[in-house]
Amino acid sequence: MSAIDAMPDPAWLRVLDASGGAEGGPEIDLRGGEADGRIRALYQPPRRDWVRMNMIGSLNGRVTGPDGTSDTLSNRADRRILGAIRRMSDAIVVGAQTVRQERHTATAPTRLCVVTSSGDLGGHRISEREAAASVLVCCPQSAADRVRETMPGANIEALEPRDGRIPLGAVLDALRARGLHRIVVEGGNRLISQFLDEERLDEICLTQAPVFAPNDAPSLPGSGTGTRFDRALLLEDEAGFLYQRLLARREPG
Ligand SMILES: NC(=O)c1ccc[n+]([C@@H]2O[C@H](COP(=O)([O-])OP(=O)(O)OC[C@H]3O[C@@H](n4cnc5c(N)ncnc54)[C@H](OP(=O)(O)O)[C@@H]3O)[C@@H](O)[C@H]2O)c1
Repeated sequence: MSAIDAMPDPAWLRVLDASGGAEGGPEIDLRGGEADGRIRALYQPPRRDWVRMNMIGSLNGRVTGPDGTSDTLSNRADRRILGAIRRMSDAIVVGAQTVRQERHTATAPTRLCVVTSSGDLGGHRISEREAAASVLVCCPQSAADRVRETMPGANIEALEPRDGRIPLGAVLDALRARGLHRIVVEGGNRLISQFLDEERLDEICLTQAPVFAPNDAPSLPGSGTGTRFDRALLLEDEAGFLYQRLLARREPG
């Protein structure tokens, strides 16, 4: 049985609050044929160039459950929304620890972009053929051989690190140069904190699971910039999970 088969399976989603012309009536029947279209309408990116985060956290702000992955926080409605956001994106960006810890699978047709300094991507479940077709690894030239060992087939973009890290602007430029403009950053904490610190996120998609997670689990990303986000959408599901979509408040000029 796969992790998703074992997850709770809520029957409906309800719109609690929507702004910005979000379409859709107040309740979405997740067993019905229109559900994916309705979710899609609620999560449409407003521009061609759009960078958003999508994560799930517990009531105490942790991002993994007792099994050390996000699977034990999530449910099938959350995965349905995650799938819809992925299908509306040209590329998913993740840090290498997420690939290792979550034992990442392929995300085709959406490209997967992995950012790493070490090049060590061991633990994933992506075949050589899948990696060749849909994975781009952004790493320093010195890590390229390690990427070839730990994720055979993956495409490699060697980028110049600055202060020991690949600059996020260079990652986004590499994606846009390939025609990949609608980006979702899925984690983890350390990668997304950099996106927040550099004010590169247009939107936050955040699921809150109605459960506490272990204290030693990693937490949601932090940032000292104080960027404000305005809520554009709030959904709940039958199991009490809350789904927020928030847009970055940009000062004019
Ligand atoms: N709840 C959720 O929605 C969710 C989603 C995703 C992940 N998670 C969880 O979050 C945890 C992982 O988060 P994390 O904060 O520990 O790690 P992370 O952000 O996933 O990955 C950190 C690693 O990414 C690489 N990296 C990040 N920024 C880089 C940069 N600018 N340049 C070069 N490399 C860079 C480095 O890889 P190297 O070490 O290879 O150099 C770094 O060690 C896992 O437990 C995972 O299960 C939860």
